[in-house]
Amino acid sequence: MNAIFSFNVTRLLAALSMSLDYTREGLTSHHRRVTYIALSLGQKMNLSSEKMYTLFCASTLHDIGAITFADKHKLANIEIVSPEVHCEKGYQFLKGMSQFHHSALIIRHHHHRWNQPAPDIDSDLLTLSYLIHLADRIEVLLTPSYILSQRKCVIDKIRKLFGSYFPPEYEDLLLETVKKESFWLDLESIYLDNIIENMLIPTPHIEMRSQEIKDIASIFASIIDSKSRFTHRHSSLVCATSKELARLAGFSGEQTAQMEVAGLLHDLGKLSVPESILEKQGSLTPEEYDFIKQHTYHTYHILNHIPGFSTIAEWAAYHHERLDGCGYPFHIDGASLSTGSRIVAVADIFSALAEDRPYRLGMKQEKITDILQKMVKGKGIDGDLATLLLDHYDTFDHLKNSLSS
Ligand SMILES: [Fe+2]
Ligand SMILES: [Fe+2]
Ligand SMILES: [Fe+2]
Repeated sequence: MNAIFSFNVTRLLAALSMSLDYTREGLTSHHRRVTYIALSLGQKMNLSSEKMYTLFCASTLHDIGAITFADKHKLANIEIVSPEVHCEKGYQFLKGMSQFHHSALIIRHHHHRWNQPAPDIDSDLLTLSYLIHLADRIEVLLTPSYILSQRKCVIDKIRKLFGSYFPPEYEDLLLETVKKESFWLDLESIYLDNIIENMLIPTPHIEMRSQEIKDIASIFASIIDSKSRFTHRHSSLVCATSKELARLAGFSGEQTAQMEVAGLLHDLGKLSVPESILEKQGSLTPEEYDFIKQHTYHTYHILNHIPGFSTIAEWAAYHHERLDGCGYPFHIDGASLSTGSRIVAVADIFSALAEDRPYRLGMKQEKITDILQKMVKGKGIDGDLATLLLDHYDTFDHLKNSLSS
């Protein structure tokens, strides 16, 4: 089954890139602002709409290779030690997807300095790398103080970098771009997403096949899973388990494809949780547990922000809700929990129990059966779905083993 999801790809990327902007200090607008600055420079250069779209994709995902809060913190300094690490990681994430082949190359070189030997890359793509680098360095200089009073200080610092970091001929381009007050006010605008979308007109017509959506979701799943060594392949296993449960429960091909995306992205909001909490061995303090509880809140809102994703958002984000209404964070009860949401909840619990953790091995069938049955009795999870999984235990066990080998 290779259903076509037709919806606005720019919204999909913009929403997913938001999940990259969680830091120790909370949610930033780094990717969105870098995208806006880069596109503003691109407009001044009269880039074609095709190149503007490529620039949008690359800048929206440019720091995809910086995963931990510590990685992101390092990039917020004007001088970065070893920036190539996150550039290379970002390239590796994206290079396999034909849609993002150019973006991958641009991201690989987005910290390349003009006065260093030129990398082996098409000069048009290198131009886009320079624009992102320039936009990125402007963005990290911005502070929370009044935006219009920062202009001179930011631009003075950036001007010193032409001829070393950036090509000298881009200096006039920058000065032309930043002279309007609206450029700066846009950076603080609550309408920035719409402003960016309007810069991409005419929007390239892009339809994505379900496989391509799954490829993007898989990239984000590996980012989520690499936040903590405890959850190594968790998103992939929840995806495979949810898909199989959906199939057994009689979901259509298109619904099963949506279920795979929901499974891959169910823990997307974990990107908002500090690694120190995700990695903590032993019991969590009440405050740390609150941080964990926020993850599905963010999963829901990031995904629900994408037009056409409301079902996937529900299925993905309600996996810690319980039939008795005592789950988190929305306290939705059995009367409102759809079969899709119940499937991801059962798949998440099965996966967590069956997976090895650094402090224990994955549980055996008997123990998992016992725990699932107790949860059914306690009105935590759906009895029919738990039975479906237990009746086909060998299939699910095989899925788990094939993913961990
Ligand atoms: Fe970067
Ligand atoms: Fe950046
Ligand atoms: Fe979760």
